[in-house]
Amino acid sequence: MLFQAEDYSGQKEKDYELVNKQLKALIEDEPDITANLANASALLYQFLDDVNWVGFYLYKNGELVLAPFQGLPACVRIKYGNGVCGTALKEKQTIRVENVNEFPGHIACDAASQSEIVTPIYQDGQIIGVLDIDSPNLSRFDEIDQENLEAFAKILSEHL
Ligand code: SME
Repeated sequence: MLFQAEDYSGQKEKDYELVNKQLKALIEDEPDITANLANASALLYQFLDDVNWVGFYLYKNGELVLAPFQGLPACVRIKYGNGVCGTALKEKQTIRVENVNEFPGHIACDAASQSEIVTPIYQDGQIIGVLDIDSPNLSRFDEIDQENLEAFAKILSEHL
């Protein structure tokens, strides 16, 4: 399967629909979680404008552990309740941060990051990890991003 930026129309909701279809096609016949998360991070990283980190942390033995991603090397382990990722895990919901400098306990992996969105990934009703996306722009992520990234995470949940 060949993915090209030209496939995208520039209309945000329509393009997210296409990305979510592409995700399904990429992962539905593949049971390997590492391969699927690697392709999922690559797909989002090339689709989203103005992002500097896209990737996953998996919940293992009470903490989040770095999983496939695109971007600069990042902190490997995040404790439950720490940072934006650990907060999304604890609160069991998407956390959208307009300005990471104002988020108490934000863990800075790339000094360029200014805004961030973290959404949980579930399996059988339990959170198994999070999808984390950073942007060098303030307030990069809106309601439309949130809805569609939650749909992206749901597709992952159904196929991992
Ligand atoms: N900023 C995150 C840490 C992970 S990096 O952004 C890749 C946090 O506060 O949890």
